[in-house]
Amino acid sequence: MIIFAKIVDLQRFLNEKRSNNATIGFVPTMGALHLGHISLIKQSKKVTDVTVCSIFVNPTQFNDKRDLEKYPRMPKQDSELLDNVGCDVLFLPDVGEIYPQNDTSIFNPIVTGFGDLDKVLEATFRPGHFNGVAQVVSRLFEIVKPTKAFFGSKDYQQVMVVKALVKLLQLPIEIVACPILREDDGLAMSSRNMLMSAEERECAKLIPALLQKSINLKNEGKSIAEIREYVVIELSKKPIYKLNYFAICNAETLEEQTVFTNNVTSMALIACFVGKVRLIDNLIIN
Ligand code: PAJ
Repeated sequence: MIIFAKIVDLQRFLNEKRSNNATIGFVPTMGALHLGHISLIKQSKKVTDVTVCSIFVNPTQFNDKRDLEKYPRMPKQDSELLDNVGCDVLFLPDVGEIYPQNDTSIFNPIVTGFGDLDKVLEATFRPGHFNGVAQVVSRLFEIVKPTKAFFGSKDYQQVMVVKALVKLLQLPIEIVACPILREDDGLAMSSRNMLMSAEERECAKLIPALLQKSINLKNEGKSIAEIREYVVIELSKKPIYKLNYFAICNAETLEEQTVFTNNVTSMALIACFVGKVRLIDNLIIN
């Protein structure tokens, strides 16, 4: 695996590959890699000729500066993992390389083109977050110019924002949404999981369990309001949980549903603090 820190060097390498008709697969990440990230690399390797992974902890998408500071950073371990799975290129830029002018507001008007995507669910609780994601992803797309880019469905709303961004900017990039990888007890893999204490980690498994339970409740004929109430009550039983949202939405639009409708795919989405760590997860429930 070749590691680049500078855009010019990365582009020289990729331009040569492209001139030989190679397709470029791209997996943007913020590092502290786990098997969820690795599954995206594997998917990219399956369907493209050259796989590029970027690791960049993007300051503009953190609305909480403490969250940015404590975000785990382990580039050496990450590059070993990537090398082992056969990733071709690791792009490891510093902040100055991605934001040379320190002008982080220029993508704001673009983000307003996302319709309601930047107003619901995650956007309500993390103001400015998707604006920051759009800034960095559009910048990275401009640099890497991938044929296909791979994103995890754990961050489902993010995938939708990125798809909207690509459409808006008319970029010739295919966005591939990949399945969520989970731990044995169902917890969605996340770089933030390692920040949990043993107690928090034990309690965290309730989050995916409640999503599964939503399917059972739906199959028993419970309404969306009853499912919500069940989830809210379960999470209020211990003070370690602090629910941001639990919503059942149309999976195509993320519009919140009040009743289940035939021919509409419903997705349950949750964001909840377990102690000091904020977890998000989702599951198709019909
Ligand atoms: P990060 O949280 O590092 O995630 C990088 C990619 O890995 C995202 O597409 C995310 O959805 C995916 N991913 C994370 N956990 C996963 C899991 N358990 N199963 C499958 N895929 C998983 O998301 C970001 O970084 C950033 O917002 C980024 C897109 C890099 C922009 O800064």
